[in-house]
Amino acid sequence: MYLGLDLGTSAVKALLIDGDQRTVASATGELEVSRPHPGWSEQNPADWIAAAEIAVGTLKAAHPKELAAVRGIGLSGQMHGATLVGAAGEALRPCILWNDTRSHREAAALDADPRFRAITGNIVFPGFTAPKLAWVRANEPKIFAATRKVLLPKDYLRLWLTGEYISEMSDSAGTAWLDVAGRRWSAELLAATDMTEGHMPALVEGTQAGGRLRGPVAARWGMGGNVVVAGGAGDNAASACGMGTVRPGDAFVSLGTSGVLFAANGAYLPNPESAVHTFCHALPGAWHQMGVILSATDSLNWLAGIAGRDAAELTAELGDTLRAPTGVSFLPYLSGERTPHNDALMRGAFAGLAHQSDRAALTQAVLEGVAFAFRDCLEALRAAGTKLDRATAIGGGSRSRYWLGAISTALGIPVDIPADGDFGAAFGAARLGLIAATGAEPLEVCTAPATAATIEPDAKLAAAYADAYARYRALYPAIKGALN
Ligand code: XUL
Repeated sequence: MYLGLDLGTSAVKALLIDGDQRTVASATGELEVSRPHPGWSEQNPADWIAAAEIAVGTLKAAHPKELAAVRGIGLSGQMHGATLVGAAGEALRPCILWNDTRSHREAAALDADPRFRAITGNIVFPGFTAPKLAWVRANEPKIFAATRKVLLPKDYLRLWLTGEYISEMSDSAGTAWLDVAGRRWSAELLAATDMTEGHMPALVEGTQAGGRLRGPVAARWGMGGNVVVAGGAGDNAASACGMGTVRPGDAFVSLGTSGVLFAANGAYLPNPESAVHTFCHALPGAWHQMGVILSATDSLNWLAGIAGRDAAELTAELGDTLRAPTGVSFLPYLSGERTPHNDALMRGAFAGLAHQSDRAALTQAVLEGVAFAFRDCLEALRAAGTKLDRATAIGGGSRSRYWLGAISTALGIPVDIPADGDFGAAFGAARLGLIAATGAEPLEVCTAPATAATIEPDAKLAAAYADAYARYRALYPAIKGALN
């Protein structure tokens, strides 16, 4: 048996698979995000441990024998978070999360130093880890001075699981301190934020062992004495392992809290100018590109909160058949945007509202706005040299056929829906646990699920969608001046 632990933004998910990669069971422990000031987004690392205990405890209650047979654990996690740890391994402050944009000034300053783009292959986005440390250095100097290690969220969970300071390439690529082509820490970039390699965990590949489960945790979960914890991956690379998005040309579109258009690459292909992310993949010798939008299902959940309805009720009101855009546009920039604008200060907008714009019209505009944000990502990936002619849909939002239809039509490519099953980040993490524990060949393990259905672009609506996309594109420059 192998266990995947995915530390997401809204929950920790534990998923158990057997040696034939069949899912045995899964369970979650919920998480809250705290937003103490505009642009801030934090979580208490102790809550991750509590949520992991709840998720694994639930599995243990229902499947004690299977849990006892676990030989390998794989970790996946929300990326970029800065977890600052003191001399005794204690968290010194709440973790500053991936969608926290308080350090936009520090990010711009680091990004202006040409070494960052040259060595990491990426823009220094405000959500990345390095600018957060620059912010802490300026605003919380005592905490900065007490910091002994900086850990990504899943690697803090690993510290608790194994007692070891270890990370891996895919998540570390999102810190702005990794030499992404060379797959090693850059002493030069660390020095630019007054840090050293001593502040960083040791690096392994996602498929390699990255520690062993500590005795007390193993005993509590009823596991044996020799459980391998794999390097694992950032949540997007972990999802790619779950979906078999590992060979050049493979792509997925992920509708989670954030939205990601992810393409696997056989080589390091940076293009920071298009605001594309170029990171190491979880498999050795592989890289990937992605366009990232900060508020995907978050945008729909925001509307649902205001409308006093569930997100699923809102999408159900539209039915499954795609409608022509109504003239209402929505920009999903609730916490700024990464691809393609790299703009932490921009905010969302509805435009084109009329007396007849009812709740369904607003829902439709939100789904279309997110679909157009993915179109922007597709253009950015194409500018970075990636050829992409279909993508597989994953993430909670992909349960809405309507939304997938809007995305397929906005992108002009077919979107595949995988056969029933759970092929997300926790499954990918479990696969990495299996590989690290057994030495299995990564490409033989990370295969793609069968396709249950394919959503084709709606040719009848192509022209109306092209018009709506042109309106969407024109809104950002028009509104930016008024908001910033
Ligand atoms: C990727 C990113 C998000 C988080 C979400 O760069 O910031 O997709 O990984 O958990």
